[in-house]
Amino acid sequence: MSEKMRPNRANDTAPQPLDTNVFREALGRFASGITVMTTVDEDGAPYGVTATSFASLSLDPPLVQWSLRNAAFSLPIFLKSGGFSVNVLSADQEAVSRRFSTPEIDRFAQLNTESGLGGVSLIQGALAWIECSLETTLAGGDHTILVGKVLRARTFDHQPLLYWRGGYLPESTDQTESDHKT
Ligand SMILES: Cc1cc2nc3c(=O)[nH]c(=O)nc-3n(C[C@H](O)[C@H](O)[C@H](O)COP(=O)(O)O)c2cc1C
Repeated sequence: MSEKMRPNRANDTAPQPLDTNVFREALGRFASGITVMTTVDEDGAPYGVTATSFASLSLDPPLVQWSLRNAAFSLPIFLKSGGFSVNVLSADQEAVSRRFSTPEIDRFAQLNTESGLGGVSLIQGALAWIECSLETTLAGGDHTILVGKVLRARTFDHQPLLYWRGGYLPESTDQTESDHKT
């Protein structure tokens, strides 16, 4: 071990309790793409939520992951349906991101979609569609981690919509503040 990597014993005191605001601020420094995760209930009704927790997990087998708040209305629907689609949002889809994180509205109203595997909605204008079967779930604190096995994927040529420090990039003319803090 090099001298530089050796733990500094002088700093080995017990850490202060983590400040939640500092934790949120630190997480917000990580720039991410934005997805809308879609699924269907047992009657075929469409559901979807905005999620930045999406990540690639494995190439062989092809797996992706994301996490959904345990208190989310749609969690039981995602768990029961056995499948979901990842819609990677493009730069001009900030309104779509806002809509799919707004409670108690018809999120699919006047939205152009195609029907994917299992009747799951694929949002037109997205950068990519990644259609998955639900492979497994894992407990993750106040969230549930959903691991999807990728069955089919399509890509389109647009610029990406990004999320950074609680706001959207590229910056839109809509000055409404976002309310998502993690
Ligand atoms: C940019 C952005 C990213 C979000 N990412 C996540 C996420 O990864 N996981 C999550 O549980 N909620 C996330 N949310 C919040 C959900 O979209 C929001 O709570 C939604 O209303 C949940 O829907 P439901 O309660 O109808 O299931 C995000 C919101 C925004 C605006």
